[in-house]
Amino acid sequence: MPLKTTTKSSSKKAVTINTKRFDSDILPSEITSETNYFNRRSFIGTAGTLAMGSMLSSCADADSSANKASAASTADASKQNALEFLPANKSINNGFYTDEVKTPYKDITAYNNFYEFGTDKSDPQRHAHKLVTDPWSITIEGEVEKPGTYTLEDILKPHDLEERIYRLRCVEAWSMVVPWIGFSLADLLNRFGMTSRAKYVAFETLYRPDEMRGQRSRFGTIDWPYVEALRIDEAMNPLTMMAIGLYGKVMPNQNGAPIRLVVPWKYGFKSIKSIVKIRLTDQLPPTSWNKTAPQEYGFYSNVNPAVNHPRWSQASERRLPTSLLKPNRIDTLPFNGYAEQVAHLYKGMDLRRNF
Ligand code: MTE
Repeated sequence: MPLKTTTKSSSKKAVTINTKRFDSDILPSEITSETNYFNRRSFIGTAGTLAMGSMLSSCADADSSANKASAASTADASKQNALEFLPANKSINNGFYTDEVKTPYKDITAYNNFYEFGTDKSDPQRHAHKLVTDPWSITIEGEVEKPGTYTLEDILKPHDLEERIYRLRCVEAWSMVVPWIGFSLADLLNRFGMTSRAKYVAFETLYRPDEMRGQRSRFGTIDWPYVEALRIDEAMNPLTMMAIGLYGKVMPNQNGAPIRLVVPWKYGFKSIKSIVKIRLTDQLPPTSWNKTAPQEYGFYSNVNPAVNHPRWSQASERRLPTSLLKPNRIDTLPFNGYAEQVAHLYKGMDLRRNF
């Protein structure tokens, strides 16, 4: 039976802000509670044209509809700077954060892979403001007792948000350190009553060519929509998270707003963005990059310095930000440094064959 749909303003859980542990220089007075976040999402949804967060701060005191219309028509990537603050405590689990230097916000949000907006690293920042992320819903289907289409507000409501600082290693051999905000995917899946036949979890990104120029391109490599999947034990590992923000703010569109997957021990392409469907299944699901080039991108795609990509080495990586003079090259670690938490999932498997 689907979860009950509630009005967006009712009984939202405000996140407790522990200023001592909040790892940021944002003042508590600047932080908006989760309740306000939801209320503003619904406001922007009524305005009907803007991506979530793109105008959240400036719309807080919005007055006339004329103002809204003109704001909508001038929406551009620079508005992403006005993203709403999103409070979250730093995770108390030591395994969920690293002390490595965090990649600056401007690099995390300007150097992206989001092929729905183009293949150049700067395309997502330039074009993702076109994506309308409010209202948003996610369909949960397949081997679950409570299938249905749920509003994002219903999806998020019971979850306490926490900050986790993870390494992100792209298969292209660059990496970042990102302070994500979100919660464990396992906590989400447990709410929907997976049946014993659920062996894999498949994810799907929004298909909306009107807003995603890469999906309109006749020269694209990907068969849209972008799809990804995990084995059920990978999905249930506590490291696997659903993220709705980064650096103490709502997720920028170019990073996968309003909600994305983050699987830190796998190459970045497994961390699918802007999710609209989650399907539990007993069959191995297709995944976008594996369909595109199966000899180069396997289903598992665990970070592995010992197994090279057919066209380049995976032994090291460029830690962003980099420049010609400062390439910032570091050794790549097995499972991206998370071996202690996840190596047991692959015991007895040949990781060369199961790349
Ligand atoms: N999700 C979708 N829907 N479309 C994409 O093109 N690119 C993937 C992944 N998720 C991608 C996606 C790749 S290749 C990487 S490395 C990461 O997103 C990059 O995430 P970031 O842009 O937030 O760093």
